[in-house]
Amino acid sequence: MRRNVKDTIVRDYGKLDELRDVKVPRVRPEDSPETPAGKAPDPELGTDTIAHARYYDHEFMKLEWERIWTRVWLLACREDDIPEPGDYVVTEMGPESVLVVRQEDGGVKAFYNVCQHRGNRLRGPGIGSAKTFKCAYHHWEYRLDGSFENIPDLETFPQGAPCRGLEEMRCDTWGSFVWYSFNPEVEPLLDFLDPIPQHLAPYNFDRMALTRDVTIEWDCNWKTSVDAFNESYHVQGIHPQLLWYLDDYNIQIDCYERHNRYLIPFATISPRVKLPPDVPPAIKAIMQEAGMDPADYDGKIKDLRVNIQKFKRKHGADQGKDYSRLNDDQLTDDYHYLIFPNITLNIHADDLMLFRQRPHPTDPDRMYFDVQTYELIPDGEEWPERPEHGQFKHGDKSIGLVLDQDAFNLPTVQQGMHSRGYRGLWIGNQELRIRHFHKVIDDYIYGPDGKPPGAL
Ligand SMILES: [Fe+2]
Repeated sequence: MRRNVKDTIVRDYGKLDELRDVKVPRVRPEDSPETPAGKAPDPELGTDTIAHARYYDHEFMKLEWERIWTRVWLLACREDDIPEPGDYVVTEMGPESVLVVRQEDGGVKAFYNVCQHRGNRLRGPGIGSAKTFKCAYHHWEYRLDGSFENIPDLETFPQGAPCRGLEEMRCDTWGSFVWYSFNPEVEPLLDFLDPIPQHLAPYNFDRMALTRDVTIEWDCNWKTSVDAFNESYHVQGIHPQLLWYLDDYNIQIDCYERHNRYLIPFATISPRVKLPPDVPPAIKAIMQEAGMDPADYDGKIKDLRVNIQKFKRKHGADQGKDYSRLNDDQLTDDYHYLIFPNITLNIHADDLMLFRQRPHPTDPDRMYFDVQTYELIPDGEEWPERPEHGQFKHGDKSIGLVLDQDAFNLPTVQQGMHSRGYRGLWIGNQELRIRHFHKVIDDYIYGPDGKPPGAL
């Protein structure tokens, strides 16, 4: 059982009024050597509409497969999903299935999940452990490194065995995650991810444990989902309760070569609403999560965010949490990154919510939305068991109020994309990340010189 840290901290550290004069070493955003807080210059991306046909056109879907999905690095799983030799994960991407296997020497290899005999899939999606991979059809058998262990009646194949076993693909690890690529010529993983590894190193993802793992089949294109999490303009429209929880308007947007981010101040009140007289319930939850007792708070409402930062800075080490490499804003805020093309990261000091958006194999109007949450496990606490993976269709189950609100519009947005009366995405500055995301898509599909006339 995990110890209840929050109760311990409230009991041990007492009232918050002591915090006001606390002199604790502060790491101002500008001091952080690893996660820069400074704004990147905005790219010149113009104001054109974005073609809506790219959200449903089968030809465009094919181009995405040939020029994006099979060219980039993609997220497979966590390293601790496959701790021992023989542990494996099967993950599906569009029409392909990928087998990721922990090797005897501790390394990780990825293979196309297909038997070289008659094309059968070797394993279904999910996590497992194996000594060898034996195909269920004719019992062709492969070792963990993909080489042949046994081919029954090999003497009846006059041509002999195929020259090599399973078809291997590029595979590497970063940030406690395993990545693969269909592209044998792909650049090194760290080059592809740049500058993400530098930015996110201070979060210690390897000390965060998976606490939730679900996949929902959504009735929309995968980009409809990426877009939905790449702007905060919709908060006032569909998440009104968050206006007493975060600042949805003063958000710094940073676009890099292919990835982008925005920084959302949490534990604060949106400028769209009046300051409330009391601590809003949602911020009380943030305080409790930090080990504070909201009943004791007698500071100003407008200072909540800074006081929570101070508290965490002072007590983090005592709670077994290493915040030493994070700046003050990272102690409360959502440092929210898109790793092109399909990984959305909501990153806080103590937790991570990761979305992986995967295309449907054949239908541009459908996709798979993987949600995983991770929690920082304080020193000395037990690592929780990995949750079972759950999978269901849109609307069958709640995935929490905020994500339910996000999901609510997606099918109707997707329907609208097909409308002859729709003229394309009309993008404002608050949605600059969407414009940047589509520019990177264009660069992959059409090359850096831009789109030919008539292209989507
Ligand atoms: Fe949202």
